[in-house]
Amino acid sequence: MKNAVIPVAGLGTRLLPATKSQPKEMLPVGRKPIVQYIVEELIRVGIDEFLFITGPGKTSIENHFDINHELVQSLREKGKEEQLAELEFDRFHVQYYYTRQRQLLGLGHAILCARSFVGQEPFVVALGDSLIGLNAQSDIVQRMQRCFEAHACTAVIAFEEVPEHEIPQYGIARPKSNDVFFEVLDIVEKPEREEAPSNLAVAARYIFTPKIFEALDRTGVGKGGEIQLTDAIKLLIEDGERVYGVRLNSNEHRYDIGNFESYFRAFIEFALVDEKYGASLREYIDTLKGS
Ligand code: UTP
Repeated sequence: MKNAVIPVAGLGTRLLPATKSQPKEMLPVGRKPIVQYIVEELIRVGIDEFLFITGPGKTSIENHFDINHELVQSLREKGKEEQLAELEFDRFHVQYYYTRQRQLLGLGHAILCARSFVGQEPFVVALGDSLIGLNAQSDIVQRMQRCFEAHACTAVIAFEEVPEHEIPQYGIARPKSNDVFFEVLDIVEKPEREEAPSNLAVAARYIFTPKIFEALDRTGVGKGGEIQLTDAIKLLIEDGERVYGVRLNSNEHRYDIGNFESYFRAFIEFALVDEKYGASLREYIDTLKGS
């Protein structure tokens, strides 16, 4: 599997005013913007072609993955080796592609924009506003690839057990078993707590075969007036296609940068493990708690 699709076209309205003129996917968590962690996570598991589904106001994402020759030249002339090393990521031997979602009709619609890019191959989808594991060190996509091959799946989805009050924010699965790899019998987009089939929430990483596009073609407008990816996955299950879930490990939290509460938490956690500044930040926080 070499292709990944990263949808980044959303307006990020829950993070206004921070996202008025900058993409939420470019917000820093610790030292790096979110999309850089995601690309690094996927390169580690063998992905080398990335398609970003973008929109107006998202060009800083393209600039970030481009080589800034002027900046490199200037740092080199000044002998700033440490800072130069921070730019090594833009020399990865991978290819970036960009296409625009011309109407914001939801995540399902964003994925449809990737159809001709992926062709007949299975592909990974990683939501552009979510990190998995502290410092994004998770190998969840590799485990999902194993599940995909072992069970000849049409779709594999990462899931995390979430506290009850978070259930209405996510797609929720009805699992067939308690195993780490489990068949998904049903999936519901943002259910009320009482109607939720479990507390297993979709955790921002997916693998699909191109059959997802046929399902998306048949998916009508759902919750929030948007074409929901979850509804298309539900159609796959109803068609008798094999859809599996893979659980995140207990040390692999999904950091959702879509709202301020979890963004703040993610930033603090990542900053606290920063090699250079983590220890003194912890001391500083301790002094705040004491005051
Ligand atoms: P969200 O639904 O959390 O993003 O989508 P949003 O619409 O930007 O957020 P709010 O509700 O206005 O605050 C998760 C991911 O899917 C992308 C987003 O950019 C984000 O990375 N997305 C969402 C699209 O690419 N297109 C869409 O139509 C919707």
